[in-house]
Amino acid sequence: MKIIAVISACGGVGKTTLVASQAALLLRRQIPVVTLELSGQNVLGSFLGLPDRSLSGMLAHTRDGQVAWSGATHRNEEGVQLVPFGQVDPAHAIAFDSMLLSDPDWLASQLQKIDLAENGVVLLDTASLPDVKATQAIRCADLVLCVTRPEPAANASLAQFFEMLRADSRKLKIVVNGISPARPLHYDMLTMLRARVGIDALLSLRIYLDDAVPESYARAAHCFDVAPYSQAAHDLQGLANWLARWVKTGEAR
Ligand SMILES: Nc1ncnc2c1ncn2[C@@H]1O[C@H](COP(=O)(O)OP(=O)(O)OP(=O)(O)O)[C@@H](O)[C@H]1O
Ligand SMILES: [Mg+2]
Repeated sequence: MKIIAVISACGGVGKTTLVASQAALLLRRQIPVVTLELSGQNVLGSFLGLPDRSLSGMLAHTRDGQVAWSGATHRNEEGVQLVPFGQVDPAHAIAFDSMLLSDPDWLASQLQKIDLAENGVVLLDTASLPDVKATQAIRCADLVLCVTRPEPAANASLAQFFEMLRADSRKLKIVVNGISPARPLHYDMLTMLRARVGIDALLSLRIYLDDAVPESYARAAHCFDVAPYSQAAHDLQGLANWLARWVKTGEAR
């Protein structure tokens, strides 16, 4: 079982979009997948066709510091497994974060108890940094997929966390989402990002800005099903091919 943390240095860059799409595409490549939302936003289910936000999640099934995964796990129509964060009141959410602060390996130890095939993947959806849940996701991940946008603010945010992320650079890959060929600024930002992080950390494949992504989400579907010939469908399939190879070979080139 391999753990992939999908993280970012600023919000709204496409983490949940990537977690949901890659979960479906990896499953279609015969790789069993569990997705886990580590964010109080509690929306990953809606990206996977399970829009009921009252589904019980990880917090509701955590007793005495132990997660009962079987109770917290749901399955969508095509078989992607989802562990929602669950709806929580602010006090409960703060208490959970405090528990994580006092036990930095809590998530790692709980994930080891997930009953998943050896070739399976756990995809962790996170809130943007700084966040204690995202920090634990990074700590226990075999691969950290850091999503960013080709925008000045995203570059500036990533610069703040890059030294921390680079501490274990073997497992870090930065993926640029939402690039538009019509915007020269995007290419300038990409050039600056490459100079900052180096070519090894930056995935050469990119995901282009494509209205097919939000439009298909609005229809409770994936863009590669609704618009299979769209640019985003092509890019997301490319990322899934890359991830499937990494799952099988461990090579992150
Ligand atoms: N390649 C893309 N082209 C166009 N729109 C996109 C693309 N990727 C994501 N989006 C849209 O951007 C919005 C934000 O995406 P998403 O919710 O996945 O980001 P996030 O990083 O999970 O946000 P948060 O930090 O709030 O959790 C959504 O409306 C999504 O449909
Ligand atoms: Mg999200």
